[in-house]
Amino acid sequence: MKKALKYEGKGKALFSTDVEGELIQVFKDDATAFDGKKHDVITGKGHLNCAISSFFFEKLQAAGIKTHYIQQEGDNEMRIQALKMMPVEVVVRNIAAGSICRRLGLEEGLRLQRPLTELFYKDDALGDPMINTEHCELFGWAKAEDIHAMRQLARDVNRVMSDMLEAVGIRLVDFKLEFGLRHGEIVLGDEITPDGCRLWDIESGRKLDKDVFRQDLGGLSEVYHEVATRLGINI
Ligand code: TMP
Ligand code: ASP
Repeated sequence: MKKALKYEGKGKALFSTDVEGELIQVFKDDATAFDGKKHDVITGKGHLNCAISSFFFEKLQAAGIKTHYIQQEGDNEMRIQALKMMPVEVVVRNIAAGSICRRLGLEEGLRLQRPLTELFYKDDALGDPMINTEHCELFGWAKAEDIHAMRQLARDVNRVMSDMLEAVGIRLVDFKLEFGLRHGEIVLGDEITPDGCRLWDIESGRKLDKDVFRQDLGGLSEVYHEVATRLGINI
């Protein structure tokens, strides 16, 4: 049962529960982009994201990756373990798209020779600037050994997710993960949804992720529903 609201973000809210160390994460219908500058409410998005995230966390746990996921409860609620979150986003890229194209002048769609991991400081007001391990250590955001573990886990997640998506004809272009500490150990937290991934249909190149909202390419819930259905998730 949900108790007090602990934190509310752009796409999710966190509530305490009557069990110590367990939280309820609620997926909202809000869609935001460009660090909150673009905003809309899309009915059904919270439900879709909760189901997709639960699906991925279950598969990752089955592959031996430690996550905060406990279980899905109701349409848009997920029971999770409380973590001490780090203000660092880990992005994995298989194909160039988005900010790396702007930063390095790369053409969208360039296949990278191996997966690339990047770190960003989680701060909307600053526009989530790119950082490195030294910034994390110097400013106390995360220890070097924790960053090393996060990058390694992110590569493991990339392998598991890329295989699952490729099996249903979807290319995992890039994605963002957030991690936290539980009893001193790095655990995968946050969410894994098309809000934080780039997913392209392998045959047509069609975008099946939040770029549809960012770039006004059509209905967002329709493409999220398509991703869920192709993965065999019952909505
Ligand atoms: P980027 O191209 O904007 O750096 O984003 C790379 C991937 O990470 C893309 O799938 C979107 C995701 N991402 C988020 O979900 N939230 C963020 O704050 C950032 C920086 C990236
Ligand atoms: N941090 C950004 C936001 O949600 C990511 C994006 O542009 O999608 O506002």
